[in-house]
Amino acid sequence: MTVLNFVPQIVVGDDALDYLTTIEGDEIFIVTDKFISESSMLDALLEKLQNKNVTIFSDVVPDPPIDNITQGIKVLEENNANVVIAIGGGSALDAAKGIIYFAAKTGLSRKRNDIKFIAIPTTSGTGSEVTDFSVITDSDKGIKYPMVTRDILPDVALLYTGFVMNLPKKQTADTGIDVLTHAIEAYVSNQANSISDAFAEKAIKLVFEYLPMAYLQGSDNREAREQMHLASTMAGLAFNMVSLGINHSIAHAIGGKFHLVHGRINGIMLNSVIQYNAGLLCGNEKDNKNTLKCYAEIAHFVGVNIKEPKYAVLQLNKKINELLKTLEMPVNFKEAGLESSVILENLSEIAEAAMHDRCTPTNPRIPSQNDIEEIIKTVI
Ligand SMILES: [Fe+2]
Repeated sequence: MTVLNFVPQIVVGDDALDYLTTIEGDEIFIVTDKFISESSMLDALLEKLQNKNVTIFSDVVPDPPIDNITQGIKVLEENNANVVIAIGGGSALDAAKGIIYFAAKTGLSRKRNDIKFIAIPTTSGTGSEVTDFSVITDSDKGIKYPMVTRDILPDVALLYTGFVMNLPKKQTADTGIDVLTHAIEAYVSNQANSISDAFAEKAIKLVFEYLPMAYLQGSDNREAREQMHLASTMAGLAFNMVSLGINHSIAHAIGGKFHLVHGRINGIMLNSVIQYNAGLLCGNEKDNKNTLKCYAEIAHFVGVNIKEPKYAVLQLNKKINELLKTLEMPVNFKEAGLESSVILENLSEIAEAAMHDRCTPTNPRIPSQNDIEEIIKTVI
């Protein structure tokens, strides 16, 4: 039995912020970071929230640690909010999820069902506005704890293109490739279904069509920004249903160890993981022919016109390389500033962490630790 849940309402359009003037509830709690709180984005929000009692927690830090969540809970407790608005990148949304969850569980705020949770992403990448997933960091132990519960799923995802128009180039590239990786991993997940496939397929097509324009033309191309924002949410809807795969397992392990940007690691790993899953690396394509076929379908989505699956997948690899080149992104760790000797010294530890990652069980091909090591070695 497959149960598909769609909770968040998705609000889109040039006037999407007007939605905030329609919300019921007078006690508003905004969760964000310093950068957003000092930008015109917060002013734009506050303009729509006149006549409400607004409290702002703007101390969210990247990869929010437990202390950060505790600070936020204290402010929420004083405010007793019935509406929580998270605005920012993945960290602000993750922090808000942690604050809402733990405050409700410990009785320090209203119950979860009595709070309306609105998520407003200011990057087009994580899909966090439609996922029931969050990561909290224990800085003392250096461990990241994933939280997966429907209690942290936003009630409303508000997609306002105006907030992503001025994303810097590097962030546009890194987050855009993260979207592509989410969509591709969801499409080949061993839990994939026709509905998740529909979202993943559309997101893949949008990334190939619009990411280069969003990167090269930035604020001059509103359509590209808008379509990438939608692609991010669609990829989020897909992977929230069927999870991800070892591309993300490896990115989590390497990102945790070396603090390299998440999307950049995904881009470096993408072609090798495709080759591995399709049986073109460490194995043969016959044993992995269903996955090979899925990747060939992806190749066809992005304009490859070759029937034979193996050669279609090789063309997909080529298209991904061209995309990375257009985005001026590294294709191996050396180009990303990480020496091969450093990776090799930590290889077994990284591979072991990747094996235990929550994304590994849904990868279409179940790897051994040695397989993961071999995949990483192709891109050092
Ligand atoms: Fe990701």
